[in-house]
Amino acid sequence: MKDTFYITTPIYYPSDKLHIGNTYCTVAVDVMARYKRLRGYDVKFLTGTDDHGQKIERVAEAAGVTPIEYVDRIVDMTKKLWKTMNCAYDVFMRTTEPFHIKACQRLFKTLFDKGDIYKGHYEGLYCVQCETFFTKTQAPDNLCADCGRPLETVREESYFFRQSKYQDQLLKHIEDNPDFIRPESRKNEMVSFIKSGLEDVAVSRTTFKWGIPVGFDEGHVIYVWFDALPNYVTALGLFGEDDSEYKKYWPADVHMVGKDILRFHTILWPTMLMALGEPLPKTVFGTGWLLIDGAKMSKSKGNVVDPEILVEKYGVDAVRYFLMREVVMGQDGNYTEEALASRINADLANDLGNLLSRAAGMIDKYFGGTLPAEHKATSFDESLINTAGQTIVKSAAAMDRIAFSEALTEIWTMVRRANKYVDETEPWTLFRNGDKTALAGALYNLAEILRLSAILISPVMPDTSAEIFRQLGITDDSLKTWNSLSFGGLPKSITIVKGAAMFPRIDLKAAFGEPDKPAEPNADVKTEAKAAPAVKTENYIGIEDFAKLELRVGIVKSCEKVSEKLLKSQIEIGGETRQILSGIAERFTPEDMIGKAVVVVTNLKPIKLRGHMSEGMILAAGEGEGLRLVTADGADSGAKVK
Ligand code: ME8
Ligand code: MG
Repeated sequence: MKDTFYITTPIYYPSDKLHIGNTYCTVAVDVMARYKRLRGYDVKFLTGTDDHGQKIERVAEAAGVTPIEYVDRIVDMTKKLWKTMNCAYDVFMRTTEPFHIKACQRLFKTLFDKGDIYKGHYEGLYCVQCETFFTKTQAPDNLCADCGRPLETVREESYFFRQSKYQDQLLKHIEDNPDFIRPESRKNEMVSFIKSGLEDVAVSRTTFKWGIPVGFDEGHVIYVWFDALPNYVTALGLFGEDDSEYKKYWPADVHMVGKDILRFHTILWPTMLMALGEPLPKTVFGTGWLLIDGAKMSKSKGNVVDPEILVEKYGVDAVRYFLMREVVMGQDGNYTEEALASRINADLANDLGNLLSRAAGMIDKYFGGTLPAEHKATSFDESLINTAGQTIVKSAAAMDRIAFSEALTEIWTMVRRANKYVDETEPWTLFRNGDKTALAGALYNLAEILRLSAILISPVMPDTSAEIFRQLGITDDSLKTWNSLSFGGLPKSITIVKGAAMFPRIDLKAAFGEPDKPAEPNADVKTEAKAAPAVKTENYIGIEDFAKLELRVGIVKSCEKVSEKLLKSQIEIGGETRQILSGIAERFTPEDMIGKAVVVVTNLKPIKLRGHMSEGMILAAGEGEGLRLVTADGADSGAKVK
């Protein structure tokens, strides 16, 4: 029997059309699911929507329709989006499904009978947008710690879940299972939150209707998160009529969630499972955010990018590739259309697309489309074949670690190596010299690299992978499997099928303007008072002065506020950890900092600030609200900035 692999996305609020930020999370899960299928696992990929809650009730009311009418419409759009994005889920879950409603009520009653849910009175603060409770101490200024909106005061009769009872058990579980919370930086955040003391959670509401009725107490509906989290198990039949799928697939291998909802998944959800006596998911992976101009893209902010428009313009695989390559899993990434277009040109058109059109073009030109069976090696083959072997091992290891960007970087090392091989072997010279067997050998090697690439990229770019196989004339499915991933498997005498260029180059200048030329100052236009002064340098320094500065990339591992103005960060720089204080606390929270790849002046003399040592300086640009960190997303920790 095959090993199973169960992976989930968050179930999205159908409060508005989904955007490229939500899409990022689902694509990441789809990539992992496809990878595991390729590796021979029996995969279950779950996604869906979180239909209930006060937020949905309010948007529906504002739209003048019933909540179910409202969410049905968004659910249709969501399913269409996943189809467009080529996200091949196995189950689309909705919390309004009758079987889920019933299962949740049973779950609630089970915990009530056990004494882990009890009736009380809730008084505190609530963010409807985030569907999150806050205590006065957690939000002293009455603002939501997650989205910054004003909080509403809630006073109502409520059932409570005895989360506090499981605090020690949860801490022990996290300690005993190093992969339970990933990435590491987020784990530390969660652990310190738990250590600060878990309180019981209000898990029913009485001031609105759009939720699952508790069932045994009129007027109480289940708190939306207490209804949403169990979707991961009710979808498999737990508390339903048939739990055979649950027995087969649970515990989940990975819950992929955004960092903003990691707390629900690593505290509330596991304590619920502990109370139920069920096993915990193996890994909860917190992804970063897609940012626009440094701010989180979100449905409620309205600063969103529509993935369907991007796909129409650039193709689904280009968008999937960009998301997985540009954003390092676990870290935030900035979205710009220009960065997407640049990636398409550099990696897809120049590297991969070019390799395919060169190889197929030369097989066509020199051999009429079919390679002869007799091949001779060239002196460049060994290095190419070695690179291929290493790429397979390294990219697989990165995929296993959910490090998609790294895996793609490895694959592209091989693709670039093959393009270099063309320059080294000069097939046109071999042709001119009449060395047909060496020419056939060289072109075969290119085709074989393309076959290996097509297998390795297939989780990220399924259509492109299929197109490469098609153009190489590979119809035998056994040549497309993971097991066929070793150099030399392709039959010697292949016949290619001519096709169009896969990724036409985008004219960046026409689309985005001249990048290098600064904008002409316009005398008629008043510049804003806050604009930075023009660059006018009088005191030039030589390169040797610049070389005195030691600038390196560091990853912020943990961070805390030590005063109104000061943040204290622990920054990992090429294996070494430095403590650095920065006067940026008015603009950034510790949460903002963690996981960032910042630029650090490492040879600044250490000083003591407010009793804390600071061993360096983090670079930032701008002032007040405009303050931005100088970051090097995707660079290696310790890399020199020069
Ligand atoms: O939180 N970049 O739903 P949701 C990356 N219903 N990810 C983003 C993002 C961005 N700009 N904006 C949102 C909920 N997301 C709950 C989940 S699970 C039992 C219940 C991610 O629609 C966000 O981080 O508000 C979260 O993981 C997901 O989209 C769903 O957000
Ligand atoms: Mg949200």
